[in-house]
Amino acid sequence: MATILIHPDMRSAIIATAERLLLTAKAKPGAVLGLATGGTMEPVYQELVEQAARKRLSFAGLTTFNLDEYVGLAGDHPQSYRSTMNRLLFDHVDLPREQTHLPRGDAEDPSVEARAYEAAIEAAGGIDLQLLGIGRNGHLGFNEPSSSLASSTRIKKLASSTLKANARFFGDDERMPTHAITMGIGTIMRARKLLMLAIGDSKADAVAAALEGPVTTSCPASILQFHPDVTVVLDQEAASCLKLRDFYEDIHPGGQEVYFAGTR
Ligand code: F6R
Repeated sequence: MATILIHPDMRSAIIATAERLLLTAKAKPGAVLGLATGGTMEPVYQELVEQAARKRLSFAGLTTFNLDEYVGLAGDHPQSYRSTMNRLLFDHVDLPREQTHLPRGDAEDPSVEARAYEAAIEAAGGIDLQLLGIGRNGHLGFNEPSSSLASSTRIKKLASSTLKANARFFGDDERMPTHAITMGIGTIMRARKLLMLAIGDSKADAVAAALEGPVTTSCPASILQFHPDVTVVLDQEAASCLKLRDFYEDIHPGGQEVYFAGTR
């Protein structure tokens, strides 16, 4: 079973997520981290930058691979995930830019780019820890419902609900891309550890379907049930539709990890 950590509030869930990333960087300075974008991750990266500075922690040996990028947006487009990651994280830490990877949205042939991205992840030795958000429809990366649960990095059309949810990042006069290059679900599942963060009641149904529903392409995040090392960090609202909520809170009171320390 996944480790499900239900925090008392959003702030505590965000700090816990940032701390796990920091712990990985500290325990394995040459780690390969999988990163995500989206509104949920913005405060996580802010916290990460602040804590790394406070603790004088170096990211210089890390390699990162982001989940996805919009097809058609060059890296210097303000809404590209490359620009977003630079602005939120990479500009503020000592991680050499060439060790940070996102698919190139403006690649001449996005399918070739997708295959090269998958190969680059493999060549780096695979992902040690993959950070994940979740879409309201249960998507992971941009693997929308009906995505193959064994898929590798490829081009996906965005669901209309995703286009609607992400329209807030684009100006009224800007055309939003309709496709993305995204790691596949198989790619995500090959990461050695997964860390999913969900905040707010708009994610409650998707979280419940992912953690307690059937494993199905209708909710791509339900595949997490098959991963051997997955931690899910939630605030109260995101956890509000979980049937076994009391049980999870009993095992991890306040969202704290409790290690087995014998009988009582
Ligand atoms: C983007 C990504 C997406 C988001 C998801 C939630 O890299 O991986 O799956 O995690 O769309 O986005 P927010 O956090 O904006 O609700």
